[in-house]
Amino acid sequence: MSSTDADPTPPPRSGEKAEIAVTGLAVMGRNLARNLARNGFRVAVHNRSQGRTDALIEEFGHEGDFTPAADLPALVEALETPRKIIIMVKAGEPTDAVIDELVPLLEKGDIVIDAGNAHFLDTRRREKALSEKGLNFVGSGVSGGEEGALNGPSIMPGGSKEAYDSLGPILTKISAHVNGEPCCVHVGPDGAGHFVKMLHNGIEYADMQLIAEAYDLLRHVLGLTPAELADVFREWNTGDLESFLIEITADVLSQVDPTTGGAFVDVVLDQAEQKGTGRWTVQSALDLGIPVSGMAEAVFARSLSGDVVRREAAAGVLPGPASAKLDVDREAFIEDVRHALYSSKLVAYAQGFDAIRAASEQYDWNVDLGAMATIWRGGCIIRARFLDRIKEAYDRNPALPSLLVDDYFKDAVANGQDAWRRVVATAATAGVPAPGFSAALSYYDGLRAERLPAALIQGLRDLFGAHTYKRVDAEGTFHLEWSGDRSETKS
Ligand code: 6PG
Repeated sequence: MSSTDADPTPPPRSGEKAEIAVTGLAVMGRNLARNLARNGFRVAVHNRSQGRTDALIEEFGHEGDFTPAADLPALVEALETPRKIIIMVKAGEPTDAVIDELVPLLEKGDIVIDAGNAHFLDTRRREKALSEKGLNFVGSGVSGGEEGALNGPSIMPGGSKEAYDSLGPILTKISAHVNGEPCCVHVGPDGAGHFVKMLHNGIEYADMQLIAEAYDLLRHVLGLTPAELADVFREWNTGDLESFLIEITADVLSQVDPTTGGAFVDVVLDQAEQKGTGRWTVQSALDLGIPVSGMAEAVFARSLSGDVVRREAAAGVLPGPASAKLDVDREAFIEDVRHALYSSKLVAYAQGFDAIRAASEQYDWNVDLGAMATIWRGGCIIRARFLDRIKEAYDRNPALPSLLVDDYFKDAVANGQDAWRRVVATAATAGVPAPGFSAALSYYDGLRAERLPAALIQGLRDLFGAHTYKRVDAEGTFHLEWSGDRSETKS
């Protein structure tokens, strides 16, 4: 049923039906709708409470061809077919509620796009349910916050190839562009887009944790002020570390608190919050059997920061070194921390791409890993100069087993590894927590080890639980009669 007759909504200004719709006009949805309109697309807009729709039309109606819709039937009616409807509501139940209301209004071939931060397993479920009804469901990652949504985000659409054929020209046009290339590519079927967006966020967590550790070490070991640290990050942003997150770190550190006149960073409560995508990343990687220790440490560090009860019980009670300030050469230590940050960051990306590769294999997504680095070069939160290096690495060898064994990465870490080891050792000596730096270094050392102590773990498992082991010098599975004559049997 259409509510057009009863609906006072004016017709689109062009008189033509809208090409695409956005429902959910909180700041991300509103900015995405404006981005579409500014790029010349006719956009139908809807929000559950009409106020937001009215505000959008009043404030920004002049930016393009908007059709306000009072309800979902009116929104559906306003669209040309196949209809393309972007849902921009809270992940979880609110998304399901909108889908349930939309589906009976749609026709075969229509495309529903969830552009929120959905869990990729929810996206798989929704895609299956809608495709059984002949509808297309596209779970699409969108990164870049409010600013990106308005001026060009990085877009990671999943779903069917057919859906992308019709949606792609719109999404690529509104996405960020780097050297003329859009930061949008069809990631793969069903949940692939949301999986890649989830990993983007996991890497975002790791990146931010590593930056925070670099800040903390330089502040406490050298005694630098936030303003001096802002200069260090500004300088770092001119080299290999150049990235959006390093750039905004300098901004945050140089900010003065308008109330006290002191450093802004010193008046902010030191408890990091999280909406959950970092945790999802780590949970999914555990299921895939892929170590993402950088991301896991980042999630745990946020949890520890918010664990007020235990922090209050321990602060000033548990002893540490007398002072974190050490007598080290200032410029040399800054340079060491820069190397530690870059090497740890390379590990976090290597782990992130391992997780994408593993999920792609498990779910048959056929994700082009190099293309993922390309679409993260602009628009998104982790945009960075060195993403070009990832693309080049996969161009050199699409079957690269780990980014860390690519020549560029290998050399970058080789150049920085002595510094990295000194920084981890210094952190331990000074009593400054650096879980990201040290976990990354341990992963690197684990990866390159000729022989790991896992052999001992296998021995223990066989002793207490007859879990068996394999030998280095023979095929098959073996067990030792630990409680008997200690002879070996082959099973
Ligand atoms: C993006 C961001 C965006 C959001 C994070 C914040 O790509 O635009 O990643 O998705 O900023 O979800 O996540 P937390 O609240 O968990 O830090």
